[in-house]
Amino acid sequence: MSSYWSDFPGIPEALEKVSGIIRSSSESQNPIISEGLSSLFNGKGKLLRPGLFMLAAQFGKPQEKHYKLAASLEMLHMATLIHDDVIDDSPMRRGVPAVHTRYGKRDAVLIGDYLLSRCFILTAEYTSPQNAVNLAKLISTICLMEIEQNNDRFRSNTSLRTYMRKILGKSALLFSLACYAGAFEAKASRDTCERLRRIGYNIGIAFQIIDDILDYAGKQDLVRKPLGNDISSGLITLPVLCALPLDNTGTLQEIFSRASFTPEEGAVIFNLVNNSGGVEAAGKYAEKYTNRALREISALPPGKNRDMLDTLTRRLLIRDK
Ligand code: IPE
Ligand code: IPE
Ligand code: MG
Ligand code: MG
Ligand code: MG
Repeated sequence: MSSYWSDFPGIPEALEKVSGIIRSSSESQNPIISEGLSSLFNGKGKLLRPGLFMLAAQFGKPQEKHYKLAASLEMLHMATLIHDDVIDDSPMRRGVPAVHTRYGKRDAVLIGDYLLSRCFILTAEYTSPQNAVNLAKLISTICLMEIEQNNDRFRSNTSLRTYMRKILGKSALLFSLACYAGAFEAKASRDTCERLRRIGYNIGIAFQIIDDILDYAGKQDLVRKPLGNDISSGLITLPVLCALPLDNTGTLQEIFSRASFTPEEGAVIFNLVNNSGGVEAAGKYAEKYTNRALREISALPPGKNRDMLDTLTRRLLIRDK
């Protein structure tokens, strides 16, 4: 079980159950599908989205079907990871070769689609129509943001605003939906549901900022995916935007005064970001969104769920994996 949850009473057991549902719901006779997915299962993800869903559900009346819905969120996440590694040309995931590295891009795309369809089956069967619509809308937003991001590769003119919009769409909204849907399905009060939506939103933004920081400053054996992959695939993330005004060699400004940069310049940018304080400055943004989440958490009904959410949110800010 993911070490993130080991000292949260009740959650590891719930997530064991969720993991069992993910495995049984994505079973296939086809060896490419079953082996491709098993490497991803065995790689042990952090299970943050289903964990948040289960935590949020405890603000209402948890039911058996919630395990299935939590599983469907993780399956959606896993499908996006399989596709993401194709798009980002990233060879490793969760410490093992990415699905496309082992089976090629064609099969990886199809395995991701297969998982997505299995996720739809669970949601169609167990969620309210409104949340099924929310999930489908979320998937179209993820696709749109990924397409925009892909179009902007190696272009220098990214603004903070564009960056925030992209990370919201491709990543934070799933955290927001996990928190909201957990509370909604468990019939928590409207106020609590809406508060949890905002909490998930802010946790999600901070989470993706930290992910983008770890791509620059993380430790390979902890992150378990290739470092430096963002800039080498042409993506300008927050550490770069923050480094721009801080780099006193003038090199970054020179590179970004042009419309585009080259893969070779990507390597130069990587070092300049790490040497200029761009990483630390980006960390301040993650802190800001974490504090927003913490403020909202403090207004939730008091109790052990609220305390767990508070602890998790603080830990996610200082995570190294
Ligand atoms: C990785 O998500 C993709 C992002 C949205 C940054 P996680 O860091 O939650 O991946 P796993 O599930 O723990 O491997
Ligand atoms: C993840 O963004 C977003 C989605 C999976 C849709 P990244 O591309 O930064 O995720 P990692 O770093 O490869 O996990
Ligand atoms: Mg990626
Ligand atoms: Mg990506
Ligand atoms: Mg990343």
